[in-house]
Amino acid sequence: ATLAGGARARVEVAASDGADSDALMRVLAIVRERTGHDLSQYKHTAIERRLARRLIVHRLDDLEAYVEYLAANPEEAELLFRELLIGVTHFFRDEDAFLVLRDAAVPALLDARPDARALRAWVAGCSTGEEAYSLAIVLHEVIRARAGASPVAVQIYATDIDDEAVATARAGRYSQDIEQHVSSERLARYFVREDHGYRIKKEIRDTVVFAKHDLINDPPFTHLDILSCRNVLIYLQPALQRELLPRFHYALGPGGLLVLGVSESVGATADLFAPVDAKAKVFRALATANRAPLPGLPVRTTSSPSELRAGGGPTVIDAARNAIVDAVAPPTVLINERGDILYSSRRTGRYLEPAVGKTNINIFAMAREGLGPHLSLAVRQAIARHRRVTFAGLTVRGERTTSVVDLSVVPLDDPPSLHKLLLVVFEPAPSPEKGRSARGRTRRSGKSDLERELARMKQQLTTVVREMEASSAQVESANEQLQAANEELQSTNEELTTSKEELQSLNEELLTLNTELEVKNEELTVANDDLRNLLDSSKIPTLFLDGALRLKRFTSEATRVANLRPIDVGRVITDITLRIDYRDLARDVADVLETLVFKEVQVSGAGGVRYTMRIHPYRTTDNRIDGVVITFFERS
Ligand SMILES: C[S@@+](CC[C@H](N)C(=O)[O-])C[C@H]1O[C@@H](n2cnc3c(N)ncnc32)[C@H](O)[C@@H]1O
Repeated sequence: ATLAGGARARVEVAASDGADSDALMRVLAIVRERTGHDLSQYKHTAIERRLARRLIVHRLDDLEAYVEYLAANPEEAELLFRELLIGVTHFFRDEDAFLVLRDAAVPALLDARPDARALRAWVAGCSTGEEAYSLAIVLHEVIRARAGASPVAVQIYATDIDDEAVATARAGRYSQDIEQHVSSERLARYFVREDHGYRIKKEIRDTVVFAKHDLINDPPFTHLDILSCRNVLIYLQPALQRELLPRFHYALGPGGLLVLGVSESVGATADLFAPVDAKAKVFRALATANRAPLPGLPVRTTSSPSELRAGGGPTVIDAARNAIVDAVAPPTVLINERGDILYSSRRTGRYLEPAVGKTNINIFAMAREGLGPHLSLAVRQAIARHRRVTFAGLTVRGERTTSVVDLSVVPLDDPPSLHKLLLVVFEPAPSPEKGRSARGRTRRSGKSDLERELARMKQQLTTVVREMEASSAQVESANEQLQAANEELQSTNEELTTSKEELQSLNEELLTLNTELEVKNEELTVANDDLRNLLDSSKIPTLFLDGALRLKRFTSEATRVANLRPIDVGRVITDITLRIDYRDLARDVADVLETLVFKEVQVSGAGGVRYTMRIHPYRTTDNRIDGVVITFFERS
């Protein structure tokens, strides 16, 4: 499909065919080779829109032609790369988020931190720095307002993949336009007035460290209290967004704040973040049991680890703790309330077996024969009563042996990261046969009544358990239906969010385009003024006509040779009364347009003034003939 040609390009890019997507891949490969940045995981629709612009700029017909151009012009890859990083930003953008941070989220965060540790924040994708300085100002305001509290130091890391944007951010100088977004109080308090704009004050500048950093491929900053990554995810494909959000969760400590852009959301990772204010897109990182370092990504940390490390593996302390648990503790499994296994110690094979069918790490599916009903009852009771529940002397049938076990389920509360998790402990018990022989046969008859009673109780218990399992199955199936409906809603929601994201990124591109057009417009106005002044100061009567002899423009001196007023622009010259004695203007103009050779004629005007009249073809910059220029030089 053809890409160039304004609106046509947009439509055809959207419906790009296989050939175009192949060309697109080649474009991305060249950009990767020349700049070292892989943009294949950015949204292709956004990339295609920027490509359409490059085609128009270079007057190329299709993407194939652009690939050739890109390969032959080394500087183009860098230009395209910069154009793809849409750096739209301004101070206190989408102000709701800053209000929520200032009035609720940050004060609560500070209240929950007893220590005097510096507040650590990371602004990822900071563009030219406005967002990082806005955050620094808000944090300064919150800390200043906490009368009586000990002052808290602030350390903000602000990063972007675009080193030119980072350099601008570092300079901290902004144009006068920031008055639109920064209140006069903040301008006075946090900025220094300079010739044509403002410079951020040292007090705020010193709290921010700017660096070039690739959010996708470089290790994240860690131990953060706040992570602000706004209007960056909207440019990335959903799969990459889903990969980054757990990284953000890892980078934040529990309770840390995540701030996203208005069209962005935590989506499928809602179990990692709770909304502080869903509309303002401020979220709190939830504590989770599993906070393992991220595979494949080294972790950036500024604090040195205090524990002794054995090689690159776990700490000696961790290893010792594991060895002790393995040697002494009974077989134990850590589960969540649904029975999903989060951790299992050794030697649980006697009681649990891999489930048949698709991979299942749910303890209820894995329980060996004789254990299942008791296990589900014990888990339910432990959750309901919130205390340890033990069923002693359960007979569990394995593949070759039968064993007896005391089963305990212990709900956990402390530390908070284990909240709502349960320990299932299997303590091997002596088999009834052995116990009986040890205590002698004499008591056997006296116990038979008790044994019968016990058997009856067991039967009753089994019935109750079966009933409970039946109702639990019903609840589960209702739950599954609800979950399916929920997933349906979620996917619809994501589709809506995606189109909203698309609109938002389109909007940002339009804003950039608009700014570029405004600059061009200003340049044109200046050039126009220069030209008019030049023509007027030359005092030479001059007329500009198009190919159909319509008046396009005239100099003020031209009123000496014709009765002209501004409203005459657009009229055919033969309809305007000339103040010269000359009848063949139309014919001579037609001659010049045909031969492209200029013509000179002697004419006399009002009061007997004599002029040399010259008719020149009017050439445009792209060498088209678009009418004539007629000048009148007065002869002495
Ligand atoms: C639309 S701007 C958003 C600026 C600011 N966060 C805001 O919301 O006002 C997107 C920024 O993300 C940066 N960016 C894009 N991909 C990135 C990456 N992989 N790593 C870091 N920054 C990236 C771009 O260079 C650009 O400056």
